[in-house]
Amino acid sequence: MHDFHYEGKDLWCEEVPIRDLVAQVGTPLYIYSHRTLKNHFRVFNDAFSRVPHITCFAAKSNSNIAILRIFIREGGGVDIVSGGELYRAMKARVDPQKVVYSGVGKRIDEIEYALASNILMFNVESFQELEVINTCAARMNRKAGIALRVNPDVDPQTHPYISTGLKENKFGINVEKSLETYLLASKLKNLDIKGISCHIGSQLTKISPFIDALDRLKKLFGHLKAAGLKIRYLDLGGGLGITYDEESPPHPSEYADAIIGASRDLSCTFILEPGRVIVGNAGILVTKVLYTKANEDKNFIIVDAGMNDLLRPSLYKSYHHVQPVQKTKRKEIIADVVGPICESGDYLARERRLQRFERDDLMAVMSAGAYGFTMASNYNSRPRAAEVLVMGDKFHIIRKREEYGELIRGEKIPDMIKRKQ
Ligand code: LLP
Repeated sequence: MHDFHYEGKDLWCEEVPIRDLVAQVGTPLYIYSHRTLKNHFRVFNDAFSRVPHITCFAAKSNSNIAILRIFIREGGGVDIVSGGELYRAMKARVDPQKVVYSGVGKRIDEIEYALASNILMFNVESFQELEVINTCAARMNRKAGIALRVNPDVDPQTHPYISTGLKENKFGINVEKSLETYLLASKLKNLDIKGISCHIGSQLTKISPFIDALDRLKKLFGHLKAAGLKIRYLDLGGGLGITYDEESPPHPSEYADAIIGASRDLSCTFILEPGRVIVGNAGILVTKVLYTKANEDKNFIIVDAGMNDLLRPSLYKSYHHVQPVQKTKRKEIIADVVGPICESGDYLARERRLQRFERDDLMAVMSAGAYGFTMASNYNSRPRAAEVLVMGDKFHIIRKREEYGELIRGEKIPDMIKRKQ
């Protein structure tokens, strides 16, 4: 469910016609529906209301501070993977005791920043990292809350680039080695062992891999209890998929019921790290048609958003539905929608049956709220798009369009080469 719909021929977001919005803010433009964001968060969070839990939104999927703030106001926490994401979460006024820090490569300065901020726990991915966190905590005279990120070796049956819980992936500590690592961790004085964590992959459309992973964690939970370690948090990561095309992923309530049902005998607080399922279908990317052309066997629609704005099609061959911001009666053609970047892989959609688009028409790239703006870059020195949050019949610019000056911020020509030869 989302709040992008047609009123007559025109695409609207909530009570705002997108054409009007674009007239004021320009393209390319990310547009998010506040109502959808809030509903998605509530549906997910409420699905776990029967059990103690914290919904830590995965900032990597969308890290705009206005968006983080919406979930924080709903009682959510944040799952971070870098000092930069912690900075954003703190700016959005998160309760640091609702922040979990994942990621295989945490730097010392980032660990110190997280310790100084008093976050709930680090999801630790190696023994070396445990030692480094312990040393930092000792130096700062603190105890670091930790969970080990366990790699349960289950196949999430998703795109290989976004599967993380298999033995061959770089993530986590092998489930067989984890007990031993926990026992070593328990000897490090400045660590407070709080939980177990795992994350097996993203865009999962079945429940069974989650439950397989949970079963393995439950066994470990039992062993740790027997060894006298008190596990208070079970962090199951994110990963619940959404409908981009024809996928039919489980509803968050089915997902929650399955998890709660499978862990009735555990007494702990659950941590969930959803990203895509909350924001994916709450945002779109609007782009303008610059040119159209055809060669012997293909039609191209050249738009002003490229792989630097939305990388997913180029990187993963991901499907995003594209549709007109204003429907017309023109006949349909099969076309590729491509961006202005100098790469053949720069496309948003391939071989799609679409109404014939003309110069200056607007096109909406759907389901772009997750891993859209956060994966945008300045490649080809293109300023990054603006982001807008629609709330009822009003909208707010939550990130202004980048300007050329910002492209070279921090760059400097050394004196030696400044002078004319
Ligand atoms: N927690 C951890 C530790 C993660 O690594 C991720 C995603 C999440 C939570 C959130 O997963 P979600 O609920 O959004 O599936 N760029 C890719 C997705 C990469 C996901 C990486 N980790 C894409 O555009 O599909």
